[in-house]
Formats: sequence, structure tokens, C-alpha cells
Amino acid sequence: MKILGIETSCDETAAAIWLDQKLASNVIASQEEHNIFGGVVPEIASRAHVRLIWPVVEQALNEANVAVSELEGIAVTYAPGLAGSLLVGLNFAKAIALAGNLPLVGIHHIEGHIFSNSVLHAGPEPPFLALVISGGHTQLTLVKAWGNYEVIGRTRDDAVGEAFDKVAKMLDLPYPGGPAIENLAKKGDSQYVSLPKGKIKSNPLDFSYSGLKTAVLYHLQSIDQSERLTRKADVAASFQEAALQVLVDKSLLALDKHKLQQLALSGGVACNGLLRSKLQQASKKYGFELFYPPSVLCTDNAAMIVRAGKFYLEQGVTSPYSLSPKPSMTL
Ligand code: KG4
Ligand code: ZN
Repeated sequence: MKILGIETSCDETAAAIWLDQKLASNVIASQEEHNIFGGVVPEIASRAHVRLIWPVVEQALNEANVAVSELEGIAVTYAPGLAGSLLVGLNFAKAIALAGNLPLVGIHHIEGHIFSNSVLHAGPEPPFLALVISGGHTQLTLVKAWGNYEVIGRTRDDAVGEAFDKVAKMLDLPYPGGPAIENLAKKGDSQYVSLPKGKIKSNPLDFSYSGLKTAVLYHLQSIDQSERLTRKADVAASFQEAALQVLVDKSLLALDKHKLQQLALSGGVACNGLLRSKLQQASKKYGFELFYPPSVLCTDNAAMIVRAGKFYLEQGVTSPYSLSPKPSMTL
């Protein structure tokens, strides 16, 4: 099948083409206009999607050498995300589907992330554990079969990527904060200050990042201006250590509890080199298989959406043209 995938749930306008059983193109326009605000501004995001959606889809078609008239199906993110942003991608997808009388399938963004390990290679085989970690989500999901998911842990407050972004702001680092903190932390001492790891008594697989973020703020307020400057890398390293160790500990707990042998990472925070190496060491020690996609498929993209769409469309599973965005729908 020749399938077009579209993703516009947050601040990336993305399109990808699936052709001859593989990914034929993957175009991502990251909206830089949010950077000066230190976070995504919803109104700016939807306006930018309107401006970018056709050029991005056109480039994806051109790179794959596919004409609109040759498309056989459309996959599009319809949940969760910013309402105005989802609406742009979904309406665009519906218009192409309606004009060509093509099957349309709506994809849940988190399910897309889970499929990102299966875009370039066969990837993990259910049952496996998926850890989706991004600016909007921190979620442990039991993938019983493709399309059959049980969320076994989620954040009670901030997402881990959001904590990276907020701590970066406190340290006067650029947005997005994850890569900036990771780089600075390489020169820092991760033992400089001990920070809370956010234990949740009622469900040990749930996450909490707001306490860690606040502890960093209180620490910065407790030291003087010159120490704040000289210890910046040490604060970044201490925060990163605490934030990532929680992900490692809870993943190991979930693998053990549910007797799983495969762990698949996805989402922007899965780009983090220290997290990957911590989990690689754990995989050798405990004997599970670790999967993570290349960085371009960790952050938001349409390749993962078109891959999930292929799974559904090949089975004849489609969505009605009346499909509407579901900004806060859980998996
Ligand atoms: O998946 P993504 O592109 O968008 C969302 O769906 O949120 O993830 C973006 C998030 C941002 O919070 C960013 O700071 C974080 O991923 N991130 C990282 C790294 N690269 C991106 N966090 C930690 N270390 C990184 N290297
Ligand atoms: Zn995402």
C-alpha cells in the first residue's frame, strides 16, 4: 500500500510516505518560533501548522516520488495533543481522503510512539514493555498485542521531558531543555546534590516529577549568585541523574512484575545518551532486550504514524470521515 502519514499534535508539522513495505520519506518541520517562549504556544503552533502542512506533505510526496492520485490510504494523529494543532492535520488528511475516496485511519499519538521501534526494523514482538517519555508523556505500557495495550504506569504531574525543559529554564539554558541539560551535565558532578526521586506509594510504577523540579528550584534559591554560576553543570548533572534513574528503576520493576523480556523506548527523552547507556548496562545484567529508535524517530514524526496506519489499513480497519480530534484521550 502507498500510505501518507500526518502528525501535527504539538509543534512538529510532519508527513511521511510508506511505500513497498518500507518508509520512503520522512519530513519534519520543527516550529522554531516557540523557542523564545521556553515552551509551546498553542495558538502559534496551529497557525504554523496551517502554513506548513501543504509544503511538508508535498515534500514527503516528492521525496518518495509518489503523486497524490497514487495514494491508497491516509493515517493521521487524532489524539491526544493540542486541539487546534490536531485539527489542522486531521482536516487536511480528511480532505485528501475525501477527494480521492481513500481509507482514513486515526492514530493515537502514543500508539504511534510505540510503533516507532518498528519503522526501520522488525522491532520488538508483543508482549513487551513500552516506555514512552516525552515533553507531554511519561508512560509505561504493557503491549499485549499490537492494538491491545494496558497502561501500567503514568506520571501524576509533570512529564519527564517537561521537567527537563523547566529545569533548563531555571538554569538559563535554551528550549528544548533536554539536549541542553544532557550536554552541560557531561561537565558536571551528578553527586553534587541529592534530589528526591518521587516515590508513589499507591502505584510504584507511577511517576512524579514536580517534586524533583521544585527541589532543584529550592536548591538554586539556597545558594548565592556566584555558586549558581559555578555549579550550573553540577546542578544539571544531579537533576539528570535523578530524573533518569527513576525511569530505569521503574522499567526494571515493570519488566520483573510482568515477566517481560523486551523494553522499547520512544519519545524525545529516549534520545538521551546517558539513559540509553544506563539501560544497556541493565539489559546485559538482567538479560532483557532493549530497543530504541534513532533520534529522528524518537521525537515527534509522521513515520511512526504511517507505520501504525499500515498495521490498521492492511487489516481493513478505518475511521469515519467524521473523526474529530480527541485532545486528552488516554491510550
Ligand atoms: O517526543 P517529543 O519531540 O515531543 C513531545 O511529544 O513532547 O519530545 C520532546 C521532549 C522535550 O521535553 C525535550 O526536552 C526532550 O523531549 N528531550 C530530551 C532530550 N532530547 C529531547 N530530554 C532529555 N535528553 C535529551 N537528549
Ligand atoms: Zn510525542
